[in-house]
Amino acid sequence: MPLSTRLQGLKLPASADLHVHLRDGDMMELVTPTIRQGGVNTVFVMPNLVPPVTTVDRALDYKKRLEAIEPNVNYLMSLYLHETVTPETIIEAKKRGITGVKSYPAGVTTNSSSGVIDYTQFYPVFEEMERQDMVLNLHGEVPSQGDVTVLSAEERFLPTFLQLHERFPKLRIILEHCTTAAAVEAVKKCGPTVAATITAHHLSIIIDHWAGDPFCFCKPVAKTPADRDALLRTAASGNPKFFFGSDSAPHPSVSKRGGDKIAAGVFTQPYATQLVIDAFEQACENGVLKEEDITPEILEGFMGKFGRAFYGIGEEKKEFITIERKGEKVMNILQSGKVDVVPFRRDQETWSITWSG
Ligand code: DOR
Ligand code: ZN
Repeated sequence: MPLSTRLQGLKLPASADLHVHLRDGDMMELVTPTIRQGGVNTVFVMPNLVPPVTTVDRALDYKKRLEAIEPNVNYLMSLYLHETVTPETIIEAKKRGITGVKSYPAGVTTNSSSGVIDYTQFYPVFEEMERQDMVLNLHGEVPSQGDVTVLSAEERFLPTFLQLHERFPKLRIILEHCTTAAAVEAVKKCGPTVAATITAHHLSIIIDHWAGDPFCFCKPVAKTPADRDALLRTAASGNPKFFFGSDSAPHPSVSKRGGDKIAAGVFTQPYATQLVIDAFEQACENGVLKEEDITPEILEGFMGKFGRAFYGIGEEKKEFITIERKGEKVMNILQSGKVDVVPFRRDQETWSITWSG
């Protein structure tokens, strides 16, 4: 039986999207209400605003602004790793309910100019995070220089990642948006304190998609078919070290279509769950996955259970979604009159989601 027939009308627990960019101001107003459209009720919110969220007060103010827009989402908040973040900041962050600290390598992606150059400089901060049981979220790339390119940037970061785990074995670390078979293998080698997120778009696209299409361009860039297939097999394997984080990253369409530079980021928020199922379906059609491998338990694990377990969060109220294929198409553009954003796979058919108690 084709996968789409087997999944038609399936009821699943609400998804958790453990890597989102919700921005601020007009863009925040526009995209935050789309979280639940994607079947998601729990998000880990990235702190790369301008200026970056480097203090606990600012992170909590940000959370209030998000809750004012959509109160029916559980927002896990993070700090941006920066020279002003000290072990004392970590103690305060833990006390006041911040979940993680995100590190961006300086200059590799959107709003990362205040990012990290030397990880050893932050060892006292990581030590305190380990004591406080806070999560370190790594953007796992090295800057392009010398013989490093966007294609090798993730793989070249892996020694640093492994060193951090070795030095801080009890520190919970997430290698965010992993895109290569090599990264998957590195994460598998680590102890239970280490996990990785996988996006929906990296389960679907490869280099050829972003070469020429700004709406598929993000960091880390999508890699080879073999890398994508490794991500698909991993996401469908039931290994709890790997769970969903969309890295939905909205940019106004003018930053994608106009000007000389193209902003990095793929916007998937309103279709977060739907796009993962689309990618699994496509992979079954291509023979990368077997239809019988995509069980409700596999979907439930990858889309929420594993991520919630790693972060140690229960669900306050258990909510469910039902997925159906009924001809719905991805919107062409999401706009408010003040700002607009073009979603990934615009105009193409996808799954529909309804919420139930
Ligand atoms: O493509 C990306 N966009 N990668 C990131 O790491 C940041 C994100 C953004 O904020 O736009
Ligand atoms: Zn991101």
